[in-house]
Amino acid sequence: MPRVYAVVNQKGGVGKTTTAINVAANLPELGLSGLIVDMDPQGNTTSGLGIVRSELSHSIYNVIIDAEDINDVIRPTAVPGLGDRAHQLAPPGTAAALRARVAARCL
Ligand SMILES: Nc1ncnc2c1ncn2[C@@H]1O[C@H](COP(=O)(O)OP(=O)(O)OP(=O)(O)O)[C@@H](O)[C@H]1O
Ligand SMILES: [Mg+2]
Repeated sequence: MPRVYAVVNQKGGVGKTTTAINVAANLPELGLSGLIVDMDPQGNTTSGLGIVRSELSHSIYNVIIDAEDINDVIRPTAVPGLGDRAHQLAPPGTAAALRARVAARCL
């Protein structure tokens, strides 16, 4: 059963992103797979995992706005086992479910 972890604090700059990156980075070592989804326009999770944002042509933005398949925007990261496509394929309907959830929160 998949689990979703939320790192939440109302205050800015207190280490939410850093915590999320480090929790995700340790999942493979525990024998678990993980998918970290960077929905923050700052993109610090993306760069923190060794991905150069300016080199990305597609992102979660295209999944939500252009209905692209979420599997097509998953990238390998600098952390072995995190973001590895072979282990991280999202189940069918993930992108549609994601769009519906985001739309519901934006109304
Ligand atoms: N445990 C820690 N000890 C020292 N510095 C830390 C620690 N965790 C994070 N930092 C540093 O604090 C700064 C803010 O961290 P981070 O970007 O993770 O915060 P955030 O809560 O996600 O910020 P934002 O609200 O802008 O999204 C960064 O420079 C980060 O390197
Ligand atoms: Mg942050």
